[in-house]
Amino acid sequence: MLSDKDRIFTNLYGLHDWHLPGALARGDWDGTKDLILKGRDWIVNEVKNSGLRGRGGAGFPTGVKWSFMPKQSDRPTYLVVNADESEPGTCKDRDIIRHDPQKLVEGCLLASVGMGVHHCYIYIRGEFVNEAKHLETAIEEAYAAGLIGKNACGSGYDFELYLHRGAGAYICGEETALLESLEGKKGQPRLKPPFPAAVGLYGCPTTVNNVETIAVAPTILRRGASWFAGFGRPKNEGTKVYCISGHVEKPCNVEEAMSIPLRELIDTYAGGVRGGWDNLLGIIPGGSSVPVIPKSICDTVLMDFDALRDVKSGLGTAAVIVMDKSTDIVKAIARLSQFYKHESCGQCTPCREGTGWLWRVMERMVKGNASVEEIDALLDVSYQIEGHTICALGDAAAWPVQGLIRHFRPEMERRIKEYREAAARRAA
Ligand SMILES: Cc1cc2nc3c(=O)[nH]c(=O)nc-3n(C[C@H](O)[C@H](O)[C@H](O)COP(=O)(O)O)c2cc1C
Repeated sequence: MLSDKDRIFTNLYGLHDWHLPGALARGDWDGTKDLILKGRDWIVNEVKNSGLRGRGGAGFPTGVKWSFMPKQSDRPTYLVVNADESEPGTCKDRDIIRHDPQKLVEGCLLASVGMGVHHCYIYIRGEFVNEAKHLETAIEEAYAAGLIGKNACGSGYDFELYLHRGAGAYICGEETALLESLEGKKGQPRLKPPFPAAVGLYGCPTTVNNVETIAVAPTILRRGASWFAGFGRPKNEGTKVYCISGHVEKPCNVEEAMSIPLRELIDTYAGGVRGGWDNLLGIIPGGSSVPVIPKSICDTVLMDFDALRDVKSGLGTAAVIVMDKSTDIVKAIARLSQFYKHESCGQCTPCREGTGWLWRVMERMVKGNASVEEIDALLDVSYQIEGHTICALGDAAAWPVQGLIRHFRPEMERRIKEYREAAARRAA
C-alpha cells in the first residue's frame, strides 16, 4: 500500500485549501526556478528516466514524446493539455483540477520548458463548469504571484497559459480533433502523419498531453526520476490515479502504485465488491473503451499497461468499472455501443456505419432476438472497424463488443435459445 508521503496528489479529496497558499504549503512551486534553470535536456531526460507513460489512455512514453519537439523552430511551438476527460468511468482529471490545480499549472510551465514552448493551452471539457472556474482562478493566482507569465518564477523564461472551454464532445478528447476544436473548427480527427509534433496547433509543432501526465511532472522533477521509477514494474513505473466505480461499497478515486493487483486495489480502497468478491461478474479495468475481463482474470491480474494487455484488455485511463452478478452484461455492453454510435464524428465509413450496426445488433442481443451466427457477424464487423479508422474511436467501439463475446458468449447464446423457445411456445 502506498504511503501518504509517496502520494503526489495530496489534496485529491479536497480536504485542504486548493488556492495558491494551500498549494504552496503542500510543496508546489518549491524550487521551480532551479528546475527551470537546469534546462530543457535535463527535464526531458529526467522524465524519460522516470518511466512515465501518458495517462490519457494510450500510455506513450512521455519523455520520448517531449523529445520529438523540434530544438529549433521558426514557427511558434505549443503544449496543449487535454482536460476533455469524457471516457465513461473516468473522473481523475476532474478531481486533480478541482482540488490540486496548481500541480497542473506548475506542470504546464515545467513541461513547456522541457520542450522549449512558451505558449500552453488547456482544453477543458465543456461540462466542467466549476472545474474551469477553479483552473481559471489558479492560473490568475499563478500570474499574480509571478510564477507564470513574463520571467516566470524569476527564471528569465516567458510563459503564457490559456484556458479554453470545449463544448462537450467525446471526440474532442482525441488529440487532433481537440486541436481542430481549439482552432475553432468542427472537432474531427486529422489524418496522421503528420503528427502534432510536426504539424499541430495552427500548423505548428505541438505536444498534447493528459492532465495527470502533466500534473505529476513537477513532483517527478523535484523528487527525482528514480523515486518515481521505484513504483510499479519495469516499463510500467510510477504512481497512478485509479477511478473505481460501479458495484463496490465505496466508489472512489485513489492514487496508488502502478502494477497493484486489481483485487487489492478494490478491497483496500473501495470497500470491496458489493456482496463480496465471489459476487463479482466482471470488470472493465480501464474506462469504457477497453474489453471487459471476467472474475477469473480479475482474481490475479495486475493494474498496469502490460499485464492488462496480456489478458487482452488495457489499462486505458485506469477507470475500474466493477460489475457484480446482478449486472445484465449484454445490456451493459449494448449501452456502451450506443455511446460510441452517438459520439462517432461520422468522418470514417467503418466507424460511422459500423458503430450504428453494432449498436442495433447488440440491442437485439439483449433480448436474444438474434441468431447464433450473428454473434460471429458482430465479431467480424468489430474487426472491420478496428484499425480501419482515422482515430481510435473505432477501436474503442469494437473492443467492448469483442470482450463480451470472448468471455460471455455462452450468456449471449443462452438468451438467443430462450428467446427462440419462448417464440416457439407462443406459436404452438
Ligand atoms: C475518442 C478518443 C477520446 C479521447 N479522449 C481523451 C480525453 O478525454 N483525455 C485525454 O487525455 N486523452 C484522450 N484521448 C487520448 C488522446 O488522443 C491522447 O492520446 C492523449 O491526450 C495524449 O496524452 P498522454 O500522452 O499524456 O496520455 C482520447 C482518444 C480518443 C481516440
